Amino acid sequence: MYLCLCYGVTDGKIKELIAQGALSLREVQKVCQAGTDCGSCVCEIKELLLKQKCCASEPVQKEG
Ligand code: FES
Repeated sequence: MYLCLCYGVTDGKIKELIAQGALSLREVQKVCQAGTDCGSCVCEIKELLLKQKCCASEPVQKEG
């Protein structure tokens, strides 16, 4: 699902960036520019960041 329509960035891409170590909105924006135009997706990006931080202590299960 597209999360940032201005730059065509999906929620999966944001999750991928968070998994790779992006810890803040600014870091996500620096890599993919999501949230740097109209800004309407910023809250959703922040939600993903918060969700990831809440789950950071849980073990990550990889498929395959
Ligand atoms: S939808 Fe992300 S900056 Fe506009």
